[in-house]
Amino acid sequence: MIKYLKTDPWKIIEDSFHSHLQRSSESIFSIGNGKFGQRANHEEDFSGPSLHGSYIAGVYYPDKTRVGWWKNGYPEYFAKVLNSANWIGLSIHVNDEILDLNIWNVESFERVLDMKQGLLQRSFIATSPYGKRIQVVAERFCSMANDDLAAIRYEVKALDEDVVLFVNTFIEAEVRNHDSNYDELFWKSIRSQANENTGSVQAETLKTGFQVAWAMEVHDSKNSNWTATQNAHRVESTTKIQIQSGESVVFHKYVSIVSSLNEQVESLSQIASNKAQQAAVVGYEELRSAHIQAWGKIWELGDICIEGDDEAQQGIRFNIFHLNQTYTGQDARLNIGPKGFTGEKYGGSTYWDTEAYCLPFYQSTRQSHVAKQLLVYRYTQLDKAIENAEKLGFTNGAALYPMVTMNGEECHNEWEITFEEIHRNGAIAYAIYNYVKYTGDEAHLGECGFDVLLGIARFWSQRVNWSDAKQAYVMLGVTGPNEYENNVNNNFYTNYIAAWCMKYTKEVGEKLQSENATLFNEKCKKWNLDFQAENAAWQTRIDNMYYPKFENSIIFLQQDGFMDKEQLSIADLKLEERPINQHWSWDRILRSIFIKQADVLQGFFFFEEDFTMEELKANFDFYEPKTVHESSLSPCVHAILAAKLGYEDKAYEMYVRTSRLDIDDYNHEAHEGLHITSMAGTWMSVVMGFGGMRVKNGELVFEHTLLPKKWKSLTFNVLFRNKQLRISLNESGVQIA
Ligand code: BGC
Repeated sequence: MIKYLKTDPWKIIEDSFHSHLQRSSESIFSIGNGKFGQRANHEEDFSGPSLHGSYIAGVYYPDKTRVGWWKNGYPEYFAKVLNSANWIGLSIHVNDEILDLNIWNVESFERVLDMKQGLLQRSFIATSPYGKRIQVVAERFCSMANDDLAAIRYEVKALDEDVVLFVNTFIEAEVRNHDSNYDELFWKSIRSQANENTGSVQAETLKTGFQVAWAMEVHDSKNSNWTATQNAHRVESTTKIQIQSGESVVFHKYVSIVSSLNEQVESLSQIASNKAQQAAVVGYEELRSAHIQAWGKIWELGDICIEGDDEAQQGIRFNIFHLNQTYTGQDARLNIGPKGFTGEKYGGSTYWDTEAYCLPFYQSTRQSHVAKQLLVYRYTQLDKAIENAEKLGFTNGAALYPMVTMNGEECHNEWEITFEEIHRNGAIAYAIYNYVKYTGDEAHLGECGFDVLLGIARFWSQRVNWSDAKQAYVMLGVTGPNEYENNVNNNFYTNYIAAWCMKYTKEVGEKLQSENATLFNEKCKKWNLDFQAENAAWQTRIDNMYYPKFENSIIFLQQDGFMDKEQLSIADLKLEERPINQHWSWDRILRSIFIKQADVLQGFFFFEEDFTMEELKANFDFYEPKTVHESSLSPCVHAILAAKLGYEDKAYEMYVRTSRLDIDDYNHEAHEGLHITSMAGTWMSVVMGFGGMRVKNGELVFEHTLLPKKWKSLTFNVLFRNKQLRISLNESGVQIA
């Protein structure tokens, strides 16, 4: 745990300069608007450790797969959201010394992420090696009101003597991904244009052919003359300004970013330039107010207030803030990468995290079309999922959704995950169920849902096999959610969700058949479906699925042979051995009993109505002490189940861990980017865990609520079937308004 940020209910504050932690702060203070995102890099030069990161949603590159030992079925590439042009650049020389906080003496420093208003602010006083002292106050935002725009306000004040500033503000499009497999450049410049205080660059991604144009317009409070220069991938505007001691100059940089996802390539640069110019006409203050207002609406819909515990309050708002700036549901081609726009790990691609963790957040805190877009994303990729299953030998329209994807094609290439972590297919079906249950949008099943469910059910039906020895259907060679086990037989969770998918598909099919026979017949034709025959096959598998169980108990075993492991618990691990994935060999991890993340308990979370409290308690008490929570997705599920069981301390511990995972850098990896998808899990741990919110028979109910000792009250807003509700929990119970 690295605790260096101040606690505040609405802000993240770094109140002194931590040179060695800049990369972590760059992630934590990232800002975005769903269309693009920007790490909190300094506008001015910085020669210390830094990961310059600027990402545009949906603009990716298929980086050729790099593996030591090729296996048939591996995808050719790993899709990466690209690191793209540096648009924040504002390089400053004071007399002839370059402003660089890694070299200058930083006297006072404050960086603030104002989550209420969506602003990144920074101020510092610094002295150059030759003794020039200046003060800088900077602010920027990626507009939520107009998602093609960003703006920067940068003020420099001379503190002790007159100085001459040489300012160079630029857009630089020759940018590399730090995680590139072959150290290749992924961008090719198309055109650039610069004139005095304006400039634009247009570039194209290699292979995928996306084009993006960035345009800027800069103004300063002294109305100085700017001179422009350019080359193929860079435009810059420079000026020289004299300021007297005690005097300030303010720069405003207006930036527009547009891409071929939304505009014609021929006019991209022109569109971006026009937008930057119009932004400059509107002016910084007005753009800023519109942006703040847009954030105000977001908070109105989905804020959570925790009274009495500022750390818990800051944690949940931090999670809600990042989720909203990562995904806005405007475009069904986009999704939510595990790191959002805050880093390069995981390539910005889509994982099962979206369906298993993120959907409930968007479905309860944004208008219902936002969550629906996530389902449409998978629906439009159904053909690719069928192709993917065909590559692995499945037939008859069986669909296997990818573990990692950008456009529907699988791009993960570790065999134990790509081929075996197939439970992801179940989460995609579960999301349809979850969405319909919450929104009541039954029509979705006929529009898209049934098609997806059918492909998934067909996959499971072929993936299991009959075991004579067990006289049951079994599933061999899988990896469950707990990735610290590979190639196991009969992972309880996978078997369970497989049977559930077939059951749900059957129910949905039967309902559709009786309610809209015409549509159903069309679907049968389209998918070559003999419903009666396939239904019967599913039913046989549902009725005869094998679930490993610990003899004479109500404990479901994570997989066959689980009890052969040395029966240890976390208490047997030395602190210096944790996280075990950084200290142990992989084979030791695989043989050990330690569990990375909820596995059997993931099943108890999804399918809670199928199990008794007694079963939940027995399984939680058995598995939680063996769980190291080394996936960010783990603590939230445990927080929810612990709250349901009334285990207050455990629920609270898990909540703090999930909500402050990045702020307090529990896993020492905030520098790589934030855990965006698990942030939605944090939201669930408050609303479903402490708030006990569930949908039953089409209504919201609040059961097994739990108010941690420290909390005076918990209030959250949810949108349920077009009704905005405000739920408050305090010592006198639950109030709904
Ligand atoms: C987890 C997976 C998850 C992935 C991306 C891994 O560490 O084990 O369940 O999908 O991270 O968040």
